Amino acid sequence: MEAREHPLTMELSGPRTKLLTTYRLLKKPGEYFPKWKAQYGDPFLVNAVNGRIVLTGRPDLIKQIFAADPSHYDPFGVDAIAPLLGSESLLLMKGDAHRAERKLLMPPFHGKRMRAYAGIMRDAARSHIAAACGGPVAFCDVTQALTLEVILRAVFGVVDSPTLAYFRKTVVSVLDAVHPSFMFAPFLQRDFGGFGPYAKFRRAFETLEATMDDHLERVRAKDEPGEDILSMMLAARYDDGSAMSDAHIKDELRTIVTAGHETTALALAWATDLVHRHPRVAATIRADVDALGSDASAEDIAKLRSVDDAIKETLRLRPILTEALRTLRKPLTLGGLEIPAGHTVAAVITLVHGDPDNYPDPEAFRPERFSERSYKPNEYLPYGGGHRRCIGAAFADFELRIALATLVAEFDVELLDDSPPKPVRRNITMAPDTGVRVRLRPRAR
Ligand code: HEM
Repeated sequence: MEAREHPLTMELSGPRTKLLTTYRLLKKPGEYFPKWKAQYGDPFLVNAVNGRIVLTGRPDLIKQIFAADPSHYDPFGVDAIAPLLGSESLLLMKGDAHRAERKLLMPPFHGKRMRAYAGIMRDAARSHIAAACGGPVAFCDVTQALTLEVILRAVFGVVDSPTLAYFRKTVVSVLDAVHPSFMFAPFLQRDFGGFGPYAKFRRAFETLEATMDDHLERVRAKDEPGEDILSMMLAARYDDGSAMSDAHIKDELRTIVTAGHETTALALAWATDLVHRHPRVAATIRADVDALGSDASAEDIAKLRSVDDAIKETLRLRPILTEALRTLRKPLTLGGLEIPAGHTVAAVITLVHGDPDNYPDPEAFRPERFSERSYKPNEYLPYGGGHRRCIGAAFADFELRIALATLVAEFDVELLDDSPPKPVRRNITMAPDTGVRVRLRPRAR
C-alpha cells in the first residue's frame, strides 16, 4: 500500500516539501527538529527523499522503539553505505545473523580485554598532541589522526611505524574518496572507463583490500596470537563452530574504522573546546589527575569522575549522531499510533538531550549534572540503544576519558576562536564548523 494512503498521515503531521525538508533534516537538525516539534507535536512525520520518517524525542516512545522485537526492523539507509562496508558488515546485517555477529564482536570492546588498550590510547594521545604543539592547528585534524592510530593499533594490531603509516594513508584515501553521488545514487556505482568519483573510490578501495590481505597473512603467521581485536576475530567461532571468512573480517574492519574513528575524533574535539571554554571544569580535571600522582596508570585516570562527567556532558550537548534510525519490516504501535511497514522510526538524540525536564538549562555545559542524578537509556543516548546500540560505546568512552585527561593534565590549550564552534553535518556526523582552532603547548609547571 502507498504510505500516503495510510491513516497514519492523517494523525501525524509534519513539514510537507520533500526536498527542502530533506535539506533541513540533513543540514540543520539543531534548528529544525525543535521547530518541527513545537509546530507539529511529538512525534512528527517527515517526508524525506529516502522515505517517510516518524521522529520522536519523547523518552516513553524511545523506550518502545528500543524495546521492540528486532524482527520488526531493517537497518536504515544501507544502500548508501554498502559499497564502502560490504555486505557482511554488522551495520548491514539483520535478524539472527546480526545477533550472532554482535555476540562474536562485542567481547573485545568491553571489560578487561578493552582495558588492555589503555596504554595504546594514552601513548597515541601524548604523541599526537605533542607533535601538534607550537603553531595554530585545527584540533579536529589532530584528533582524527589520534583516533585512527588507536584503531589501527588496538583493532588491526599494527605495531611497526612504516606499516602504520601505510595503513593510515590507504584508509584515509578510501574515506576521502567516498562521494555522495554514488553513495545516494547506486546506478552511479560504475567505472565509466576509469574516470569519475566511483572509479577513484574503487582504486583506493582495492589498495586497502590488498593492504588488509597482506596484513591478515602476517597476523595468521604469528606464533602467538596478539591482543588486538583482529587476532580475536581470527580465533572467534560462532555458536555453530564456524569461523569468519577473510572477506567477512575485512568488511568488519572497514566497518569499525568507518564507524569508530571520525565519531570519536569529533567527540574529543568538542570536549576539548567545551572544557577549555569552562576553565573551572578544566581546573578540576587537572587537579584530579595531579592528585593521582605522576605514576598513575591510564586506567586510573579513566576512572576519574570529573573526566567521565565532562565526556558525558559533551556527548549530551553535542551528540555526534543526531538520530538512531530503524526501518519497519512490520507495523509498529508507537504511543497508540500504528506506524506502517516501510516507514522509518527515529529516536532523535538532540531532542532528548535538550529536554529541560531532564536537563535544566539544557544549553549550558554542566558536567556535574551527571553526578547529581542518573539517566536512563531512553533519556541519555549518544550511542543509540536497543539491539543496535553502538558496539564501540565502552571503547570510545574509555579512549575519550584517557585522551581528554592526558590533554588537560599535560598540555596548555589556548582556544583561538572567541565564539564557540557551531555543529555542522559532515557525512552523517555533527562536526564543529571551525575544526576547533587551538594553540597547544606542553604544560607550564
Ligand atoms: C564517540 C564515539 C561514537 C559515537 C557517538 C557512536 C555512536 C553510534 C550510534 C548513535 C550508533 C547507532 C546506534 C543505534 O542505531 O541505536 C552506532 C552504531 C555503531 N557503532 Fe558507534 N559510535 C562511536 C564510536 C564507535 C567506535 C569506537 C566503534 C568501533 C570500535 C563503533 C562502532 C559502531 C558499530 C559497528 C555500530 C553498528 C552497530 C549495529 O548496527 O549493531 N562506534 N554508533
